[in-house]
Amino acid sequence: MPYHVTLIPGDGIGPEITAETVKVLEATGLQWDWDEQLAGVAAVDATGTPLPDATIESIRHRKLALKGPLTTPVGTGFRSVNVQLRKEFELFANLRPARSLVPGGRYSDVDIVLIRENLEGLYVGVEHFIAIGGDPRAVAESIAIVTRAGCERIIRYAFEYAVRHGRKQVTIVHKANILKMVSGLFLEVGQRIAQEYEGRIQSNDMIVDNCAMQLVMRPEQFDVMVTTNMFGDILSDEVSGLVGGLGLAPGANIGIHASIFEAVHGSAPDIAGKGIANPAAQMLAAAMMLDHLGELARGNKVRAAIEAAIVQDHVRTRDLGGTASTREFGDAVAKRVA
Ligand code: NAI
Ligand code: MG
Repeated sequence: MPYHVTLIPGDGIGPEITAETVKVLEATGLQWDWDEQLAGVAAVDATGTPLPDATIESIRHRKLALKGPLTTPVGTGFRSVNVQLRKEFELFANLRPARSLVPGGRYSDVDIVLIRENLEGLYVGVEHFIAIGGDPRAVAESIAIVTRAGCERIIRYAFEYAVRHGRKQVTIVHKANILKMVSGLFLEVGQRIAQEYEGRIQSNDMIVDNCAMQLVMRPEQFDVMVTTNMFGDILSDEVSGLVGGLGLAPGANIGIHASIFEAVHGSAPDIAGKGIANPAAQMLAAAMMLDHLGELARGNKVRAAIEAAIVQDHVRTRDLGGTASTREFGDAVAKRVA
């Protein structure tokens, strides 16, 4: 039986990097049934909307999408496609793994998976201005909404992820010393769930500002990290930066109704169509999709192949200091995977 996946090539370098990623997935020996769908500017050009119903329906049925980067049309009334997808499929967990891959990076022993709650907190968008005297915008007020159920769901996901992937430790990142309720609830739920996993997964907790510093000073102390929406937004970019930035940073959006896998970077219009984009981040996202499907051995094989292509075969795209084309890199990884 093939795996049924919605494939969104996306904009800019998207079609180039997803083509190489599909090549690598085909080389794993698994069977794939791809349903290619439009989103982003490609979809606006073809259908007048950046997220056509056909694309949503495809993801709803297949529950799984591999997505290239989308260009956000500037100056139109369209809502962000990524935000629409997050709401539509209740994509509650955003996963960002970061592992030292390229030798000579700033750190040699980083291997972190940051798990961010993606639907709650300050990002619910409940905010308003309060007028005082003649100033209609004298005060701005924003309400963070954190639910016990939302905390349970993301923290349990993090511990289960740690078990499934043979990880040792989960760090709960919070600001419960100051935000005694919205962050306190997250910590309280986290500490209770941590007890359930005692003896299997170690756990600690850390205040977010200290955590930001510890990540720079001693990143090797972290394994799986779990945190609320805004802290996760900020720390996930910090974590990507520890291991060489965009070209190697994948992400997964895990949801109730579907899960969507993509690179962290955007559509890179400056290099689109030139055949020089680095497809490694998109391939690493595909490896996360394999993990999600329970194909852990194949996920590991794809990651090892990417590493071997870069480190042993010295096949590197321009952003990694090499001269290889997108296709040459894809060929090198596919050969290692086969
Ligand atoms: P970007 O990530 O597309 O590019 C930033 C810089 O990194 C550029 O110099 C680009 O050439 C380089 N770069 C990015 N990916 C690369 C790769 N795989 N290989 C080699 N070099 C790479 O960010 P930017 O320029 O801010 O955004 C461009 C468009 O992408 C915007 O419309 C933005 O809204 C969209 N975007 C979409 C995302 C998504 O769909 N998930 C995420 C981030 C941005
Ligand atoms: Mg962000």
